[in-house]
Amino acid sequence: MISLEDVHFYIGDNHIIRGISFDIAEGETVAIIGASGSGKSTLLKLILGLYYPTSGQVFVDGIDISSMKERKLRKIRKRMGMVFQDGALFDSLTVGENIGYYLLEHSKMKLADISDEVSAMLEFVGLDPELIDRLPDELSGGMQRRVAIARALVSTRPQVMLYDEPTTGLDPRATKRITDIINKIGDQKTTAQIVVTHQITDAFRVSDRFIMIDSGEKIFDGTGKQLLSCKDQNIIKFLGPFNSVIEKHCRLLAEMS
Ligand SMILES: Nc1ncnc2c1ncn2[C@@H]1O[C@H](COP(=O)(O)OP(=O)(O)OP(=O)(O)O)[C@@H](O)[C@H]1O
Ligand SMILES: [Mg+2]
Repeated sequence: MISLEDVHFYIGDNHIIRGISFDIAEGETVAIIGASGSGKSTLLKLILGLYYPTSGQVFVDGIDISSMKERKLRKIRKRMGMVFQDGALFDSLTVGENIGYYLLEHSKMKLADISDEVSAMLEFVGLDPELIDRLPDELSGGMQRRVAIARALVSTRPQVMLYDEPTTGLDPRATKRITDIINKIGDQKTTAQIVVTHQITDAFRVSDRFIMIDSGEKIFDGTGKQLLSCKDQNIIKFLGPFNSVIEKHCRLLAEMS
């Protein structure tokens, strides 16, 4: 569903992405981890076609978007949902308008049908449909993040969902709600998902495939077990502070299965 082939990306002289390749299958959920400034958000922008690779190719559903014109790109982007770190909701629109905005603008659906769709989406992300007339400011950060996911899902039933730090700044309960939603979408096996996160335990919750980026290079691509037994010094250094948490999590997972 998503393929990168030897992608390089420069901003000015700054070589930000250095020859990254990977394939993500339909229905697969992958976590992208790596230190701050390593290039994770830039990768998402390359996949969305917000940046063009300097060299190499990006394919979405088999279509090369690496040098595609904006008008065509917009069509491809309709198949992708993006959840930005801050939720990026429109402050002056209600929850319902935020979620239904795309359908209001770009479809011929009747208002009543849009409203039904919005309510169904609110329920899907575990929010009370009564919140439909509230303004984003009146919701907690975690609820806003869920509205952002609902908005990304409602527009097009995306084949690709991209999340940039979806749980940063949330308490454990709100975090679990978000990872549960990501897993629920993952379980449907129809949407390829990329979850960029600093929260290594969240990465383990949503996926068993990890791609690690270091200074614009892919230094790891494999399962959690492989990650934990990896001897690469950069990986050991990155995981160091989390080791005990991860091991506990893996034990729990092993006990459950
Ligand atoms: N618009 C830009 N102009 C110049 N340099 C940029 C720009 N955007 C990103 N960079 C640089 O590219 C590198 C990768 O940035 P990116 O935002 O992809 O990192 P990240 O892995 O998402 O970091 P974080 O975990 O802090 O969000 C950084 O060194 C950053 O300074
Ligand atoms: Mg980032």
